[in-house]
Order: sequence, then structure tokens, then C-alpha cells
Amino acid sequence: MARILPADQSLEEASRLLLAGELVAIPTETVYGLAADATQGRAVARIFEAKGRPSFNPLIAHVADLEMAARIGRLERVTLRLAEHFWPGPLTLVVEQRADSPVHPLVTAGLASIALRMPRGIAREISAHIARPLAAPSANPSGRLSATSAAAVQAGLGDRIALIVDGGPAEIGVESTIVRVESGGLRILRPGGLTAEEIESVASTRILPSEQAGGIIAPGMMASHYAPSAAMRLDAREILPGEALLAFGGSRAARAERAIAILNLSERGDLTEAAANLYAHLGLLDKSGAATIAVEPIPHVGLGVAINDRLARAAAPRDGSN
Ligand code: TXA
Ligand code: MG
Repeated sequence: MARILPADQSLEEASRLLLAGELVAIPTETVYGLAADATQGRAVARIFEAKGRPSFNPLIAHVADLEMAARIGRLERVTLRLAEHFWPGPLTLVVEQRADSPVHPLVTAGLASIALRMPRGIAREISAHIARPLAAPSANPSGRLSATSAAAVQAGLGDRIALIVDGGPAEIGVESTIVRVESGGLRILRPGGLTAEEIESVASTRILPSEQAGGIIAPGMMASHYAPSAAMRLDAREILPGEALLAFGGSRAARAERAIAILNLSERGDLTEAAANLYAHLGLLDKSGAATIAVEPIPHVGLGVAINDRLARAAAPRDGSN
């Protein structure tokens, strides 16, 4: 099992371990990240080993400030504007990497572009303290639910990492929104904690429809991802025998009394609260022993877009590739 330290007592120890090439799980406002010093290839390789992640999937480099970001990638007009407005926060920008970037090529899996994000809180403080970017995917075994608490990290990866920094439950609860500038506008490669409406209000650029994002296939973009062990049934309006219920709002599912277990993402129908509860509730219902988790309809607006995206991936056929 990994050691767990409270965030406010972890800066020195987390920094020491990261500089020594060890893995440290760190809280961010979106989900917990499994961090390594992004400049050390051996350390980054350990991330892929620990997660059991296909190594062609590139990682996000988390930075402490805009200067660090600018030494790694080229932030231009639109991306700079978004960074200045939303960082630190749940926004990842895919930009062209500089030829002299200090980030190890394993982080980008050989792509010319790089995903950059400035997280809030201790993750950012650690990056600033060691003056290095942190490569960090979500702190879960590949293909499983993302971790939104230190306990969830411990359960999934505890035997494979040196330290878990405990920052309490993740504030937002779904991963960052990933954005790339393309000719003709901005493409959202992965919906997340920052809504398309918020981005559009600042970008003064068109948001391109997200269907056919070209280029790389990200794990978060693979059909099956973020999956519990139980099967998933979405837009459920009644409960079938043997199911657990993931409710939303004033639950209206028929025959809910049949459910093996019931958890409500947000009784008052608040999407922000629902996002924060998503992975923890799915994880608990998964442990209830139900063969299937039935999920009530969730509106496709605001943060509901990211929530529905993760639910759809959790429900997708599992091909065992991740
Ligand atoms: O909120 C988050 O984004 C969390 C926290 C820890 O920061 N991180 C996270 O990382 O979700 P991960 O590795 O689970 O997802 C990162 C996504 C992947 O889908 C990856 O393929 C994509 O970012 N990505 C990374 N580099 C990319 C690039 N150059 N072009 C396109 N997509 C990229
Ligand atoms: Mg992930």
C-alpha cells in the first residue's frame, strides 16, 4: 500500500520523490493524477507500467505557470487567451511543441503536439517547487474509473506507487476539457470540467462540432473507457431485476424499489454536484454486486455533456484493449 500524506504536509516529500524519478499520485481540481517528472523518461515510463496503459497514448504535461508552458509549447493568440482566462483550471490545450521543449518524448508518444494544463492547488505548487512540468494521467488502472479521492487511488494503484497526496474529494470530478486550435475554429477533443459555452464566451472563435476530431486517438476517446465492472444501461426509466440505480434529480425511475442499491448524483438536479459525485457513485454501485448499473437520463447541457460522455464510454462494449 502507498503512503498517504495530507496535501498541506506533502510538498517536500512529493517533490523529493518526483525528482528521484518516483510516481506520486496528486489531487487536482478535476480528478487525481498519477504524476512523474515529465523531463525524466524512466519516470514517465513508470506511469505506463503502473496504469497498464498502451504507451502510444500521450499524457498531459501539467505546468506551474505560463512561462513554463511557453518553454514547452507554442501558445498563440487563441490558446494564450484561453490560458490566461481559464488557468489554473480544468482546461487542457493541445499546442505545437517547441523543438527545445524539456519534456521527454515519451510524454507525447512521439507526437509533434503536446497537451498542456495548469492545475489548481497542490499539483501546481509541486510543479513550481521542483520547477518542472508533471506528466500525469488520471490515477486509475487503464480503462477503469478515474479516481476522485485518495482512497480510490489507493484501491486501484496503491501497490504500485510511492506516495498519495490527499487533497480530499476532487472539486470538479470529471477530467479537464481538451481543446485544440484547428483551421476554422476550436475543436473540443474531450468534453470535460469546462463547458463549451464557457470556452466560446472567451475564445471569440467558432467551436467546431466535436464528432470527427481528427488525428490521434486518445484513451479518453476510445469507445470503452472509464468502465466499472458491472454492465451499464443508460437513460433508464425503470429498474430491471438485478440492477443498481444511479439516479439524477427527483428520481422518477419506475420500480426503483427493485434496485439492489440506489445513489443519486444530485437530488436537486445540479450538474456541478453530479459531476463531483460521478466516479465515486459509479464505484460504489459497482461494489454493490449488481450485474448492471441503470442510469437515469441526464440533460445534455453544460457539464451534462462531459457526464454523458463518460457514461457513454462506461457503457460501451468492452474489447479488452485498455
Ligand atoms: O483532468 C485531467 O485532464 C486529468 C488530470 C489528472 O489532469 N488528466 C487526464 O489525463 O485525464 P488522461 O491521460 O487520463 O487523459 C489525457 C487525454 C488523453 O485522452 C490523451 O490521449 C489526450 O489527453 N492527449 C494528450 N496529448 C495529446 C495530444 N498531443 N493531442 C491530442 N490529445 C492528447
Ligand atoms: Mg484517464
